[in-house]
Amino acid sequence: DPPTGCPVAASAVAAGPTPALFSWEFAADPYPAYAWLREHAPVHRTRLPSGVEAWLVTRYPDARQALADARLSKNPVHHSEAAHGKGKTGIPGERGANLMTHLLNIDPPDHTRLRRLVSKAFTPRRVAAFAPRIQELTDRLIDGFAQRGSADLIHEFAFPLPIYAICDLLGVPPEDQDDFRDWAGMMIRHGGGPRGGVARSVKKMRAYLAELIHRKRADLGDDLISGLIRASDHGEHLTENEAAAMAFILLFAGFETTVNLIGNGAHTLLRHPAQRELLQKSLAAGDEELLGTAVEELLRYDGPVELATWRYATRELTLGGQRIAEGDPVLVVLAAADRDPARFDEPDVLDLTRRDNPHLGYGHGIHYCLGAPLARLEGQTALTTLLTRLPDFRLAAEPDDLRWRGGLIMRGLRTLPVEFTPEPSRPG
Ligand code: HEM
Repeated sequence: DPPTGCPVAASAVAAGPTPALFSWEFAADPYPAYAWLREHAPVHRTRLPSGVEAWLVTRYPDARQALADARLSKNPVHHSEAAHGKGKTGIPGERGANLMTHLLNIDPPDHTRLRRLVSKAFTPRRVAAFAPRIQELTDRLIDGFAQRGSADLIHEFAFPLPIYAICDLLGVPPEDQDDFRDWAGMMIRHGGGPRGGVARSVKKMRAYLAELIHRKRADLGDDLISGLIRASDHGEHLTENEAAAMAFILLFAGFETTVNLIGNGAHTLLRHPAQRELLQKSLAAGDEELLGTAVEELLRYDGPVELATWRYATRELTLGGQRIAEGDPVLVVLAAADRDPARFDEPDVLDLTRRDNPHLGYGHGIHYCLGAPLARLEGQTALTTLLTRLPDFRLAAEPDDLRWRGGLIMRGLRTLPVEFTPEPSRPG
């Protein structure tokens, strides 16, 4: 029963000595394979299930260098197969949708201009002001199952929270948010691959965003889309398509990542009772200091972004002693780099108090995650509220029965069934 729609599960490959990467069994515990690659083949060429050949970069210093190397472009036009018209690059939804000219697919100078514009609207201040709303959303979702004594933390909690949060931030009216949730759900279920349902969802989202931007232009509000329109009206150039692509990438980049931060994070805490108790005790004592390092460590230890942040070599270069030809795709394996013993003490140990933790979970260099402050806020709020309101929540399944959604980009649980002492019903 391989995960439906997982673009990589169908044809797990082992080019050379690579362990069966990309299979769904692999997704359950990829770390031994990463350790093997780091040691034996740190910059390793492999054939992806799509047939595309790419380099996997697994050591921390190489990964960090690759993420910030201007010779490695984010623009799929630099992929040799795209350049020679041979076929797809594997970028989700690449063909047809002009929503794809977004930050994660472009290089300077366009990237610099667009990133500056969105940074004006997506400020840390806006995110901080959003904290009470995130708390409210979190509590409302937990209210939905707190008295039942059981829940699936993925479907009932980790999945809806980020999508509602981003919709609110962007200014998508509440009555339209469930449509967004459904479109986004389609993208997650199908691993973002260019399949029929996903293409339809992208199309609907594009039409909706174009219409929304049009409406907002006539009636600017205090939301992020209005902020983008305002920025573009002040002499800077942000076309309507660029604004729609920006809204799309905020949704796309900020959704499944955060689902998995919360899901993987809750799962990791369930599997490490002593560390969980430490965090719970410190929260009970009103000490929030540990929370900050804890969420960073959860991200390092079992982060949402797994195999791939794509890059394409714009010219020949050497990385980790390996020659990479012009046009070759390079996949920086963040999850492998973040367990590199050359950079992290005891990398396979979860230590929520870890201070020396320059993990690459949010990337590095000019494409460093724009949404990191929001992700931190959501992750911290979600986990604190779970630990505080459902202090004894425990896994309601055998650990081996949990199923993971593997893929080229993200790794996260399909379901996370838990049980707990029900909250007493509230008067009124
Ligand atoms: C970029 C991870 C949440 C928006 C990135 C990158 C990573 C990342 C690794 C760099 C990709 C690369 O260099 O190829 C994460 C993780 C998250 C998260 C682990 C949650 C735990 C969010 C949220 C948003 C967001 C909540 C916005 C609402 C973006 C955007 C970029 C980005 C717009 C592109 C930045 C650029 O190219 O300049 N993210 N992200 N992310 N992220 Fe996040």
